[in-house]
Amino acid sequence: MSQAIQQKFVHQVIGHSSEQNRLATTKKLGKGKAPVNIALSKYWGKRDSVLNLPTNSSLSISLPGLGTETKIEVLNPQTTQEDQVYLNGQPLEASNAFANRVSRFLNFFRATPQTFFKVTTVNSVPTAAGLASSASGYAALVLALNDLFSWNLDNKALSLLARFGSGSASRSLFSGFAIWHQGQQADGLDSYAEAIETTWPEFCVGLLEIDVKQKPVSSTQGMQNTVETCALYQAWPKQANQDLQTLLKAIELKDFETLGKTAEHNALTMHATMIATWPPIVYWQPESVEAMHKIWHLREQGVQVYFTMDAGPNLKLLFLETEKPAIKQAFKAIKVLEPFKD
Ligand code: PMV
Repeated sequence: MSQAIQQKFVHQVIGHSSEQNRLATTKKLGKGKAPVNIALSKYWGKRDSVLNLPTNSSLSISLPGLGTETKIEVLNPQTTQEDQVYLNGQPLEASNAFANRVSRFLNFFRATPQTFFKVTTVNSVPTAAGLASSASGYAALVLALNDLFSWNLDNKALSLLARFGSGSASRSLFSGFAIWHQGQQADGLDSYAEAIETTWPEFCVGLLEIDVKQKPVSSTQGMQNTVETCALYQAWPKQANQDLQTLLKAIELKDFETLGKTAEHNALTMHATMIATWPPIVYWQPESVEAMHKIWHLREQGVQVYFTMDAGPNLKLLFLETEKPAIKQAFKAIKVLEPFKD
């Protein structure tokens, strides 16, 4: 049942031509490249897990210096009975969780059940940055499929397909700020992201690594547990959508203080719902909390710096270029990115 709904969604997005046309390849190889994105107003919770539809809209900034490059080709059915997935130069076993998830996504794009793909994915995200790469990963994979099948999809359709792979991937098709509209429709065709046409050259994001080990609870599992067991979660969608409106205004006015406060408060509110989940989800490490205190202390001293955090212990610092020396002085190992310059 859910597979039929998913297949219908994919068909609606990639067009109404015949199955054979849609999945016929004229090219040998498809390529795609997409940046990582960091949400300033987070996506946390699905209203529909079959189509990956969120309970709230979200807003992000892309980091063009970091991301994923993916190549895809159709394998010869005479010689292959399964997909081949390579991650950062390493072939993965079909049972590997990453390879398995990619293959399940690719099931929607096989011309026949005997069609198998070779997928080569390289993440330029340094492991040290501790950034989730599923957003850039699914955006790059969708771009590679679009190239392989010569679909010529527009950004809306690409974003819809990327969202289907991993929610936050809907926002990784764009540089700069992007907004993912939660949508209202049951068919999911109005839940996609688009770019916010603005530049802010002084805007900086600092990546502060605390721990880069695989997270104990995946975001999909974490969201589901939060929605099911956290009484505080009821307040989240309204708060997140209000934060998003505040952020849009702050971006328009280049009001950094409002942007920083809103993003930090939004991240802490999301983490509060996680902590109030059962079993509790605490992604923070003692060093994460230590870094928060350091940031609050810097703010007391007049340094305009804020942070955001995702489903992991690492912090992403938000500040303007003028504060770069103070930030580098306070956090020796920080990696500073300038999203509108990199
Ligand atoms: O796209 P997913 O399923 O990896 O979920 C991402 C969730 C957060 O990173 C915590 C928030 C967000 O909006 O990116």
